[in-house]
Amino acid sequence: MIIIGCSHGKHLAGKVAKRLKAKYSELQVKKFPDGETKIRFLADVKGKDVILVQSFYGDMNWDVNDCVVEAIFAAETARDLGAKKVFLAAPYFPYLRQDKRFKPGESISLKIMAGLVDGHFDKVFVVDPHLHREAQLSHIFKIHSHKITSNPWIADYIRKNIKNPLIVGPDWESYKWAQRVAEQIGCEYVILEKVRYSGRKVKVTLNKKIDLDNKPVVFVDDMISTGNTILEASKNIRKLVAKKFYCVAVHGLFVEGALEKLRKANIEAVTTNTIPNKVAKIDVSGIVADALKI
Ligand code: R5P
Repeated sequence: MIIIGCSHGKHLAGKVAKRLKAKYSELQVKKFPDGETKIRFLADVKGKDVILVQSFYGDMNWDVNDCVVEAIFAAETARDLGAKKVFLAAPYFPYLRQDKRFKPGESISLKIMAGLVDGHFDKVFVVDPHLHREAQLSHIFKIHSHKITSNPWIADYIRKNIKNPLIVGPDWESYKWAQRVAEQIGCEYVILEKVRYSGRKVKVTLNKKIDLDNKPVVFVDDMISTGNTILEASKNIRKLVAKKFYCVAVHGLFVEGALEKLRKANIEAVTTNTIPNKVAKIDVSGIVADALKI
C-alpha cells in the first residue's frame, strides 16, 4: 500500500501514512499558464494498492473543480503506471448537496460526481458525507464505499471543552450530527428548521420552546460554508438571551469571510481538519487511518 497526498489532501495524508506505517509520497501537481493541470507521481506505484487522499475544497489558486480533475488524472495515471488497485480517501467530498433537480434543467451534481468516482476508482472512503435525500453512500456509488464519521471526536471535544452544553442542529439534516453528538455526550439538544432560498440566503426558525437555563449553546452541523446558516440560527436563540455561542462542525469551508463573520457575531467556531483552517482543532487522521486498515 502507498498513500499519496494530493494537493488538498496532503495536510492529512502524511499523518495517515505514519499511523499506518505505510509508504508515503506527495503528488506533484502543476498548472500550465493556460490553466491545464499536470500531475506526476514521484514514487513507484507499480503493483501497489494506491490510496489517493484528496479533500475537495477550493482556495485562491486551486478550486474545487481543479481538485476533481487532479484526482481523476492521478487515478488514471496510477493505473497506467501499473497500480494494483486505486482507492480514493476523501476527507471532504463535494457536490453532495445538489442531490436532486431543484429547478427544471439543473444537473444532479451528486450523481455526476459519483459516476466519475465509480469510473476511476476501486473503492472510496468519505468522512461525514452530506447525505440528505440519499440515505447511504452505497445508494450513490456503485463501487465499494465506506463512510467515516467524526461524531465521537466532536462529542469528545465538546465534552472536554464546554460544560453543560445545549446542542443545537440548525436544520433538519443536521440531526445526524447534532442529535448523535448530543446522545454521545448525554446532553440536551434541539433541531431547528431551515428554508434555503439560494446559496447565500436561508431562513432558520425555532419551532419549540426551549429553556436555556444559562447553558452555552453549541451549534453542531456537518459543514460551514458561508456561515449564514449558523448566523441565522443564532439570531433565533439570541432572543432567548444565550450566554455564549459555539459552533462545532466537521468541514470548515469558511468561504466569503465566514470565520470572521462568526467571530464578529460572538460565535466561537471549531472544526475537524478535513479541510485545513485556523480553527481545525479536531484531528481526523486516526479515524481515516483506522478505516483504511479494513
Ligand atoms: C446544508 O444543509 C449543510 O448541512 C449546511 O448547513 C450548509 O451547507 C451550511 O452552509 P452555509 O454555511 O453557507 O449556510
